[in-house]
Amino acid sequence: MNPFKLAILISGNGSNLQAIIDKFQNDKLIEISCVISNKKDAFGLTRASNANIDNYFIDHKDYQSRQDFESKLISILESYKPDLVVLAGFMRILSEVFVNKYLGKLINIHPSLLPKYKGLETHKKVLDNNDKYHGVTVHFVDNTLDGGPICAQSKIPVETRDLEKLEEDIHKLEHIIYPEVIYEIAHGKLSLEEGKVRRT
Ligand code: GAR
Repeated sequence: MNPFKLAILISGNGSNLQAIIDKFQNDKLIEISCVISNKKDAFGLTRASNANIDNYFIDHKDYQSRQDFESKLISILESYKPDLVVLAGFMRILSEVFVNKYLGKLINIHPSLLPKYKGLETHKKVLDNNDKYHGVTVHFVDNTLDGGPICAQSKIPVETRDLEKLEEDIHKLEHIIYPEVIYEIAHGKLSLEEGKVRRT
């Protein structure tokens, strides 16, 4: 049986990438085919190399337009024919063309309980607003920023005023929920059907 192939896009540390590697590196069904970063110094590239996963750095600044950058991205992705493109801290907005090409096969993780706190600095916003709860969301990507049908959410009570500790707690949640959602999609238990999340 052919493995279910993941392509993972990153921009930074890659702790979510690491959680996905740890979960699936000995899995016969799920394979991480490639990792692509738009940042040269992203530690996630080292994590990919250490796990013997093909990895690429594509500098968006080398391309005149978003479209040119994405054409390069797509050409690498298509050489692997991924079943799922996983955004794991990939901090570039993707165009409608890219999103439509991978609709239903493109997921993102965001460190907030969406629809609350789209964009950046979500942990700070939670503390500034004295929120009782904080959490993470995994969603299929559509053409809205940090939007799209929600696959899963996980939340914790906010029990600290320390920004770094809160971020650390949220990362721990991410590292559990993201591999779980990927597992469900790969096993056909979760999909996007006519714009809605379908669980079987
Ligand atoms: C994660 O917290 C992820 O949710 C966030 O970037 C971080 C990447 O960490 N993504 C977004 O904010 C997307 N809007 P990592 O590089 O250690 O996985």
